[in-house]
Amino acid sequence: MKTVITFGTFDVFHVGHVRILERAAALGCRLVVGVSSDALNFSKKQRYPIYGEQDRLHIISALGCVSDVFLEQSLELKGQYIKQYKADILVMGDDWQGKFDHYSHLCEVVYLPRTPSISTTEIIEVVKDRH
Ligand code: CTP
Repeated sequence: MKTVITFGTFDVFHVGHVRILERAAALGCRLVVGVSSDALNFSKKQRYPIYGEQDRLHIISALGCVSDVFLEQSLELKGQYIKQYKADILVMGDDWQGKFDHYSHLCEVVYLPRTPSISTTEIIEVVKDRH
């Protein structure tokens, strides 16, 4: 009966995204996904995602393995979101290995291997190069 929580931008949705969400969902009975807001992405990367936050939320919420979605407004609120959604497990891709261990007093922290050879940044670069 465990609740799993994960976070991400999930811009230009691709197979690496669906695979981490499927594996995260398999660790519990309920998967909650925090989709980072457009403003949060801009503050981190100085560019807005290709897909706006409402579309990214819509895509993630339509997946069968996802029970609930919300907009992640600030990176510093992760602890609050973990408590609010009563998460038992926090899942992150292993590009973040070790970076979220400080939440282990609130829940189990699990890092899953990224799917090789695909990322949103790479897709954007490939599309740009073709023009
Ligand atoms: N992810 C994954 N495998 C990939 C790409 C992403 O498992 N090949 C996971 C990330 O580890 C993260 C989640 O998907 O837990 C959302 O990642 P996000 O940063 O939105 O996707 P990226 O494709 O990595 O985007 P970017 O290139 O902009 O960093």
